[in-house]
Amino acid sequence: MRIIIHPDYTTLSKWTAYYIAQKIKSSNPTPEKKFVLGLPTGSSPIGTYRELVKLCQEGKVSFKNVVTFNMDEYVGLPEDHPESYHYFMWHHLFSHVDIPKENVHILDGNAKDLEKECHDYEEAIRRAGGIDLFLGGIGADGHIAFNEPGSSLSSRTRIKTLTYDTRVANSRFFGNDPNKVPKTALTVGVATVMDAREVVIIINGIAKARALQKVVEEGVNHMWTVSMLQLHRHGMIVCDDDASFELKVGTVKYFKDIERENLSLPRL
Ligand code: GLP
Repeated sequence: MRIIIHPDYTTLSKWTAYYIAQKIKSSNPTPEKKFVLGLPTGSSPIGTYRELVKLCQEGKVSFKNVVTFNMDEYVGLPEDHPESYHYFMWHHLFSHVDIPKENVHILDGNAKDLEKECHDYEEAIRRAGGIDLFLGGIGADGHIAFNEPGSSLSSRTRIKTLTYDTRVANSRFFGNDPNKVPKTALTVGVATVMDAREVVIIINGIAKARALQKVVEEGVNHMWTVSMLQLHRHGMIVCDDDASFELKVGTVKYFKDIERENLSLPRL
């Protein structure tokens, strides 16, 4: 697993956006062979999305031949609700780049048959040729997408009940009332993410320091579902100094040393 440690969130966000843009460009996507990108919501990727919008508007990258699959969506929240992940994605990214609407896939938390929705989503990913790069964030408890502690590490897209911790964490978007946060969500599984040819996880801020320590310095464990990244062939964590707070000095020095040459912005 690669770990890229940036001094702060701004640098991390810019670097991650350039990294993704570079991956899209170098794959030379065409209408026949599109680049398939997995995407998260949450505050962590907002800076990256802002930079990607800038790069697209400057003509440095295009999303015309990019297909996206989002990680998750709340159950029962209308798509136009400001806290739905549909709303989030169009607001922060899709409305500002040249992606065709039909290339965007987000789980429908209002589908009549939620199990079928999850099954069809896995099928759609398969039909698209699998995901080239899955970008993710994590919760403070190390969950990826909505794969809460204890989730099967071989899970696929399904309905999940959110933990109280997650509802409290996300209540900041729902008037600080955990009871207003939907209790269930549709989410890709840990295995759905791990099937991607490459996985890039953004971990920033002191609140994620404990999770980063568990994921990097301890073993694969279903209580910290993102730790599954240790078994991925092309897994990378992009973090900031604040998030590295609980890592051993030696761990930080090691990764800073081996990635020293790779901290400058990828060329576009
Ligand atoms: C939610 C999402 C996750 C996200 C997490 C962290 O639980 N389902 O995909 O990683 O929030 O969000 P933030 O980046 O705001 O800390």
